[in-house]
Amino acid sequence: MLQHDVIIVGGGLAGCRAALEIKRTDPNIDVGLIAKTHPIRSHSVAAQGGIAASLKNVDPADSWEAHAFDTVKGSDYLADQDAVEILTKEAPEVIIDLEHMGVLFSRLEDGKIAQRAFGGHSHKRTCYAADKTGHAILHELVMNLRRNGVKIYDEWYVMNLIFEDNQAKGLVMLHIETGKLEVVLAKAVMFATGGYGRVFNTTSNDFASTGDGLAMTAAVGLPLEDMEFVQFHPTGLFPVGVLISEAVRGEGAYLRNSDGDRFMEKYAPKQMELAPRDITSRAITLEIRAGRGIHKDGSAGGNFVHLDLTHMGKEKIMSKVPFCWEEAERLVGIDAVVEPMPVRPTAHYSMGGIPVNTDGRVRKNGTELTEGFFAAGECACVSVHGANRLGSNSLLECIVYGRRVGSKIAEYVGDRPLPAINETQYLQAAQERIQKLMEQTGTTRISDLRQRFQDTMSEHCGVFRTDEIMSEGIQEIQSLTAEYNDVFLDDKSTHWNTELIEAMELQSILKVGEAILTSAYKRQESRGAHSREDFPTRDDEKYLGHTLSFCSDDGVTIEYMPVVIDRFEPKERKY
Ligand code: FUM
Repeated sequence: MLQHDVIIVGGGLAGCRAALEIKRTDPNIDVGLIAKTHPIRSHSVAAQGGIAASLKNVDPADSWEAHAFDTVKGSDYLADQDAVEILTKEAPEVIIDLEHMGVLFSRLEDGKIAQRAFGGHSHKRTCYAADKTGHAILHELVMNLRRNGVKIYDEWYVMNLIFEDNQAKGLVMLHIETGKLEVVLAKAVMFATGGYGRVFNTTSNDFASTGDGLAMTAAVGLPLEDMEFVQFHPTGLFPVGVLISEAVRGEGAYLRNSDGDRFMEKYAPKQMELAPRDITSRAITLEIRAGRGIHKDGSAGGNFVHLDLTHMGKEKIMSKVPFCWEEAERLVGIDAVVEPMPVRPTAHYSMGGIPVNTDGRVRKNGTELTEGFFAAGECACVSVHGANRLGSNSLLECIVYGRRVGSKIAEYVGDRPLPAINETQYLQAAQERIQKLMEQTGTTRISDLRQRFQDTMSEHCGVFRTDEIMSEGIQEIQSLTAEYNDVFLDDKSTHWNTELIEAMELQSILKVGEAILTSAYKRQESRGAHSREDFPTRDDEKYLGHTLSFCSDDGVTIEYMPVVIDRFEPKERKY
């Protein structure tokens, strides 16, 4: 049996930053980091537009308090304000620390780190490396892991969290290359497993974003928090859905409808294209519904709007957002220097996740904590984003809370002993799960079931929601979940069986999807990214609370937990 003092699942920014902080705190702590891809291929590498911090390099009037207010207002007052304070206060120092590690941020003329405008932020505070910010940061962090002696298990798929007597004790994992199963024992387990974009049929997320960490947490009876709050990024490249960074609008691009109008004037007259994402995604959806979307031949009535960069000029486009230009050129044959890009909302980010306190300790319920179990980054809900995240706050969350949770874990493991478990029982259960999938003689292909599920989620839990559409959706996913017993695998091999991995990932997205739909169905108000046509206003009296979803074979039960409000009283959001 393998063992480490700490095991971290996930090789993206939060996991890598936590591992590094543990090693910085005490180089003798033995840390293992497990990832289902190589860490350099984690989805964090695809983050484009930047990382927010009130460095004041461009705008001396900025402050952490202004950043905190923008974040809380953007969250539609559902963010926990103590967590937001930590996020925004620590932001400047974590950026400087990244710079000292060697991250190649873009620069101003005077050599300071450049900062650009981003949606919902009242000051230019987003630091960036052109439009490849995640790439620049992740490469540096991964290099630091190696230098600091973190043991990396890349291309291992974690199948189970071992959780007994309210304590996380380890994991069961499968080596994708060889099919070998291993149990890993640890004094502390941290999940940094990222998001679940693949629950939806159109997403900016990579194929690995299947919410496995959330599903494993739910499987041991722990709750998931605020799952109804799914961020749809306004500018997914049509029809593929990949991200065209908000940085493009931060650098001056316009959104136009089929009449050529900058329609954001109607929806957010002050912030225009730099309104928060929930508002901008709704605006685009309403324009399309009203027949002012655009067809490929340029006529009205189509399924996308235009993101127009043509007035920005080639030099600015190529120096500030070269990757977005390249995506449009490579994927849909559009040269954005001379023609507009087709865009529409795409599933992008999970505001909800595994409930944690500000030390990253996973909650057992609304009042108690678990032992030995931590989480940070997109898979966690601390909650700094509430009902709607501001762009460039997610990389920040990964770095601030990755660092903080790393240091708390280093303290926590101290001289604790390793827990004891029955290894054989866990290995046997994992083996039986694989065997069952291999031997099943059904008729349903995984790709077909997955597609139908993703279509159902997009249709029944998208930008706008109603009671009727969601209750139909819940029924549909229950019957799709039942169909899982009828899937069959073509590939019966033990080595590199990616079909087997996809079958297990499908189980994850099915579970996560049910939690999203049920919590959305129960929240009868509109707040942030959760927009109910049948309950169009925010209802602070009934719903100023975090949702906790407990999943079981009998469905999802919902409880609510109070929001921490210690600085900014809720008021109406206007942009
Ligand atoms: O649009 C973007 O570059 C995405 C940034 C973010 O989600 O924070």
